[in-house]
Amino acid sequence: MAEDLEIIQGSKNDQYESLMPQVKGLLDGETDLVANMANLAGALKEQFNWLWVGFYIVKNGELVLGPFQGPVACTRIRYGKGVCGSAWAEGKTLIVRDVEQFPGHIACSSLSKSEIVVPLMRDGEVVAVLDVDSSELNSFDETDQQYLEEMTKLIRWD
Ligand code: SME
Repeated sequence: MAEDLEIIQGSKNDQYESLMPQVKGLLDGETDLVANMANLAGALKEQFNWLWVGFYIVKNGELVLGPFQGPVACTRIRYGKGVCGSAWAEGKTLIVRDVEQFPGHIACSSLSKSEIVVPLMRDGEVVAVLDVDSSELNSFDETDQQYLEEMTKLIRWD
């Protein structure tokens, strides 16, 4: 059985530093993709209480909704569309400080104000993306990028 997550207050950096070893513990030794995506989404949602945290997985040339925490969301996103499809096409993390300023942003929820999307790579190809949405403007920066990239690398893709 997984132990309860220890949730801490503090700076963003402190919160990630507390969460990182716990995420490692949760994912270590588990090879199932859905199980690991689900627990990482749950851990991030619990610590940071963002509006939406979840994964889209590349399937047959589209991004298809995977494990997530938050309100119901769009199920399919095309290559190059929205922030998720753009991060897929560019193969790099995208930080959007104000979604209204991002041309083609896909509003799954009218409450979403800022967003970060981190691609998961395998053999140089994007195989999924982690999408995090906040109900506040300007929630994400390079600290989020650094830790979220590190955390998504813990998800095995056998
Ligand atoms: N806003 C995203 C779509 C996914 S949801 O917000 C959960 C985008 O523009 O790609």
